[in-house]
Amino acid sequence: MPTTSHASTAGDAGTWTLGDRTVHRMGFGSMRITANPDRDLAIAVLRRAVDLGVNHIDTAAFYFSPGGTLKVGSGPTRWATELIREALWPYPDDLVIATKVGPSYDPVAGSTPQATSPAALRAQVEENLRRLGRDHLDVVNLRILKRPGHDSVAERFGALADLRDAGLIRHLGLSNVRVDHLDEAEPIAPVVCVQNSYALDNRTDDGLLRTCGERGVAFVPYFAIAGARREAGAEARHDEAVRAVARAHGVTPHQVRLAWTLHQGAHVLAIPGTGDPDHLVENIAAGALRLTPEELARLDAPVVEEPAQPA
Ligand SMILES: NC(=O)c1ccc[n+]([C@@H]2O[C@H](COP(=O)([O-])OP(=O)(O)OC[C@H]3O[C@@H](n4cnc5c(N)ncnc54)[C@H](OP(=O)(O)O)[C@@H]3O)[C@@H](O)[C@H]2O)c1
Repeated sequence: MPTTSHASTAGDAGTWTLGDRTVHRMGFGSMRITANPDRDLAIAVLRRAVDLGVNHIDTAAFYFSPGGTLKVGSGPTRWATELIREALWPYPDDLVIATKVGPSYDPVAGSTPQATSPAALRAQVEENLRRLGRDHLDVVNLRILKRPGHDSVAERFGALADLRDAGLIRHLGLSNVRVDHLDEAEPIAPVVCVQNSYALDNRTDDGLLRTCGERGVAFVPYFAIAGARREAGAEARHDEAVRAVARAHGVTPHQVRLAWTLHQGAHVLAIPGTGDPDHLVENIAAGALRLTPEELARLDAPVVEEPAQPA
């Protein structure tokens, strides 16, 4: 029998406080809405998310279609931040919009330049403010290109801390980082969240997730459903453990993947991305899914490859 038989809301996943803003742990990632050729549907999905209790939306000024992160290649141009504004302005008081700066997208050149100077980062913050129609940003993540060796975030994070002091930003976070980046940023200004790629079958950041929990920093996984397929979309291969847990609860493997991330700690926030209203409802319902210790152990167990049979 499904364990999520009632009409679920994002609040079923519990709450976490980002600085002084309390959010439901089940949120929404807006990268995918730019890929939807039906603008009205994209707007309807955003409104439905909020109706279902979502009060934490992740975005970026560089989520753009066509091209940009999703490279859909056709259809009318749209920016996720503008769709959010069109769908949700005037914004509900409890809505926290987290955005990110660092990468940008030039739709004319088709290039993705990185903002590294304080002036370029300020320009990105102002672009987010303009497109979202706000006078301040709730959360801004500094999104970096993780490079081997020392790659200091001090100057860039310091520039954002100055904008925080100036009142343009309420809270700061980091994205695509390691523990040493967090160590470097925290003395400069409080870090409320870390947003990295992480999924049931992408556990590279187990240690960072734990460190965030110990320090009271939210860990916000992206590609929790897509896993190794990343921008290519939802993972279609699920091992038998995922399928068995899904069957036991009468839910989909994607919901199990999402629920599993929320079980990794009270500080883990989900931001699944979808342009599909039915998937949205499923994802919200996954926040109400309670996995047993036995199920979690089964999901965590290494997959045992079947020995190849002799021909
Ligand atoms: N910080 C960063 O560098 C970074 C990078 C990438 C993404 N992000 C953020 O993280 C969010 C999540 O990442 P994501 O959207 O790429 O990946 P995701 O949430 O792991 O997965 C999204 C993919 O899964 C599909 N999907 C969603 N719900 C589903 C369901 N219930 N059943 C089956 N398929 C489902 C979506 O397709 P449909 O549209 O068909 O549902 C889409 O193809 C993004 O929206 C963005 O806000 C951040």
